[in-house]
Amino acid sequence: MTTADLPVREGNAGIPPREARDWWRDAVVYQIYPRSFSDSDGDGLGDLPGIRARLPYLRDLGVDAIWLSPFYPSPLLDGGYDVADPRDVDSRLGSVADLRGIVEDSHALGLRVFVDVVPNHFSWDHQWFKEALATAPGSPQWARFHAVRGKGAHGELPPNNWPSAFGGPAWSAIPGHAGWWYLHLFDSSQPDVNWENQEIHDDYAATLRFWFDLGVDGFRIDVAHSLIKAPGYPDGPEPDATQVFAGNEQGPAWDQPRVHEVWREWRTFADSYDPPRVFVGEAWVRSVESQAAYTRPDELHTTFNFHFLKAYWSAEAITEVVGLSLQTSAAVGAPPTWVLSNHDVWRPVTRFAPVLADGSHDLVTGRKRALAMSLLSLALPGSAYLYQGEELGLPEVLDLPDEARQDPTWFRTNGDVVGRDGCRVPIPWSSDEPSYGFSTGTPWLPQPTDWAELSVEAQEVDPASTLATYRRALAARRESPVLGDGELVWLESGQPDVLAMERPGDAPVLVLLNAGEADRVLEYAGEILVESGGVHRDDEGALVLPPDSCVWLARA
Ligand code: NOJ
Ligand code: MG
Repeated sequence: MTTADLPVREGNAGIPPREARDWWRDAVVYQIYPRSFSDSDGDGLGDLPGIRARLPYLRDLGVDAIWLSPFYPSPLLDGGYDVADPRDVDSRLGSVADLRGIVEDSHALGLRVFVDVVPNHFSWDHQWFKEALATAPGSPQWARFHAVRGKGAHGELPPNNWPSAFGGPAWSAIPGHAGWWYLHLFDSSQPDVNWENQEIHDDYAATLRFWFDLGVDGFRIDVAHSLIKAPGYPDGPEPDATQVFAGNEQGPAWDQPRVHEVWREWRTFADSYDPPRVFVGEAWVRSVESQAAYTRPDELHTTFNFHFLKAYWSAEAITEVVGLSLQTSAAVGAPPTWVLSNHDVWRPVTRFAPVLADGSHDLVTGRKRALAMSLLSLALPGSAYLYQGEELGLPEVLDLPDEARQDPTWFRTNGDVVGRDGCRVPIPWSSDEPSYGFSTGTPWLPQPTDWAELSVEAQEVDPASTLATYRRALAARRESPVLGDGELVWLESGQPDVLAMERPGDAPVLVLLNAGEADRVLEYAGEILVESGGVHRDDEGALVLPPDSCVWLARA
């Protein structure tokens, strides 16, 4: 496919000026993984006071909003996505008052705040699951979960073949009640709740209300495509062990049509607030079309675009996924979102790095490609997500010792799938303090020994650093009347592997990305607003794009 085959959307009609648009349509949202961001009390776990103290850093970075991954009381068997009480804060991470402080300070700094809600499951430490365990299946307490009779003469086999997304079966035996099983699409410590039960609807409404009333601007919804299971729990496709946490879930436990009823209910509730509150859904569904269904006008405002995240380093692949994403979101009137990184996937620096003959990763190239992709995504219409440390160009930590690993996939696959700890290593703030200024104690995951030069402190004083480039890009995005929500026009660059697009309008911006292996020389005029990878003008004034580079030009 060439850019010529892609939909071209002419003009800038229909997009209101920035001041008049809904903020979430083109917000840049920074994801904080609280345990790994900043530790204020030396216990090695990042915490809410640590986050609060660093908010000015995020304001200076130039993002519009923050999203906090779970900070709720939790046994931390799935990094906090195993929630024991959704209306409280884990005492190791702080208090509800600390969260209120974060919201107040963020708002004073001009930042919006998203928090996480996990509607598919509770932790097995949740009071309701403890109450269920104290009763027999069939009780009202068990009706809040999925307690199902097993197969086989005595129910000794799981009710069906559904796999846990973390490996192994999605069913565990209910202790003391032979032949009965409970459902967990994730870890056995995360029992799925039953959305056929009104109590679950009411309880989640109470959770939304609790945090909305405290001032949060929106929720990121965990696994927004599960919740409803096909009636009768029928078998699904044969489980594929190679697909553990691959974002490829399918079958009767996923993406069921009636899940959309829940999102309509939630949307009505969010709209009852002034100003209306906002949702971004996590839905790793298989097609862009089914993803778009979640952002119909009466459902979620946005969903993460994981198709973009899965694109590999090729002009064709990137062009295709951008085009499809724009087309599909336009069909439902929702802005697209651009995600390159989060707490579940390999960091892009390593993902995009060529693998060398000795099996190691060429991180220098990987870092250039990741930055070029970020510049591209920040120039696309819609909203963008950054995951903490992405702005520092951190790589995936691949050599964590086995005994440090905490991801449930590691345990449920007996180490076959190492899991997601490598992108959750605490981030480096300074170059020569213990744990790079993350904590005065021992970080919950060990940090590499060569991160001093990647610290915020080191990069802040280097105008050529990844951090400095992000700051320039985010500042330019804010100032530009055409970046953010709006139209995009593909151009033929006339050069192999060079993507070219324009954001049209009063002060048009041209975006070029070289995904090829050679320098490309182009004749475009215009001031270089932001670049990565060494884009420059040669002696004749022609624009030179080295491999793995990206540039934003003020179109002359
Ligand atoms: C998606 C979250 O991003 C991930 O970290 C978590 O393990 C699963 N949902 C289960 O809650
Ligand atoms: Mg702490």
